[in-house]
Amino acid sequence: MTEQHSSGQDSTAITVVGLGPMGSALAQTLLDRGRSLTVWNRTAGKADALVAKGAHRAATIAEAVAASPVTITCLNDYATMYQVFDSTDGAFQGRTLVNLTSGTPAEARMTADWAAERDLGYLDGAIMVPPPLVGRPESVLLYAGPREVFDRHRATLALLGDPRHLGTDPGLAVLLNTALLEMMYATLNGFLHGAALVGSANVSASEFAELALGWFMPVVLDPASLAEQAANLDEGAYPGDLGTMQMNLNALEHIVRTSVEQGVHSDQPRLMKELAEHAIAQGHGTENYFAMFEIFKRGRGPMPGGGR
Ligand SMILES: NC(=O)c1ccc[n+]([C@@H]2O[C@H](COP(=O)([O-])OP(=O)(O)OC[C@H]3O[C@@H](n4cnc5c(N)ncnc54)[C@H](OP(=O)(O)O)[C@@H]3O)[C@@H](O)[C@H]2O)c1
Repeated sequence: MTEQHSSGQDSTAITVVGLGPMGSALAQTLLDRGRSLTVWNRTAGKADALVAKGAHRAATIAEAVAASPVTITCLNDYATMYQVFDSTDGAFQGRTLVNLTSGTPAEARMTADWAAERDLGYLDGAIMVPPPLVGRPESVLLYAGPREVFDRHRATLALLGDPRHLGTDPGLAVLLNTALLEMMYATLNGFLHGAALVGSANVSASEFAELALGWFMPVVLDPASLAEQAANLDEGAYPGDLGTMQMNLNALEHIVRTSVEQGVHSDQPRLMKELAEHAIAQGHGTENYFAMFEIFKRGRGPMPGGGR
């Protein structure tokens, strides 16, 4: 798709603001793909390598924004972004800001309002891969905001990876980003706690990995079968004929008791046990474990036994 803009400059020109590890990877990728690149970073020296390869170093943030129809920003947080763009009033008019800084949905929605007040097209995005994977076709970047802004810049965004537009609500990209990160941390913690548990009996982490990652994950936690069950979540159907929440509570109690017996940390399994007890107290005892979804969907109520 051809890029359009109203400023009369090079339509393929692009500005990157923020040259930490991620911003540098984005900038380098755009330069490698032949884009005319302008960069700005608080610590100007971080642009040296890019400038040596042909990027233009803007002296001020206003100059950086004025140089291109699209500015990608990749800073440590949203508060920094406001601070950095404070001096750009007017420079943004008619341009597009693609914000790839991580934050919360409320921060993203607030920034969309801030952009609208400045006649600035706005996409809020989230990068789902580490810096070395930026630019690969299989690397997903999530975007939210007006569809027409996304479509207008899709060709540029596709240089950075596989761009996915999630919807017009500007909070959606960071929301899905945090949901996926939560899944990553919970999965990693499960593996790490399991490794600590078997390690208490001198079973090596490598031996555990062979069983846990080589067999258990692909067979028992098979993604295809989990994906199939996702429809049940949408329908709120949790038939307990193959195993109930009460049965799962027994398993969780064993994990807590085994952790205590083996002298390893027991807070993580204890929290899972308390959540299952809460689900049972809420009437989900005869349903399967996926009924935990009903608990997670609501704000935290009182937990049995004075739990957290
Ligand atoms: N690295 C990753 O693996 C990864 C993966 C996915 C998403 N992300 C997201 O990408 C964004 C950038 O991450 P990052 O890894 O590049 O590093 P970062 O440490 O989160 O951000 C570094 C950038 O923020 C700038 N900055 C910090 N405080 C500032 C201030 N007060 N004023 C002006 N600029 C300031 C730094 O400028 P200076 O160089 O001058 O310090 C640098 O450009 C974050 O939102 C992060 O969550 C990162």
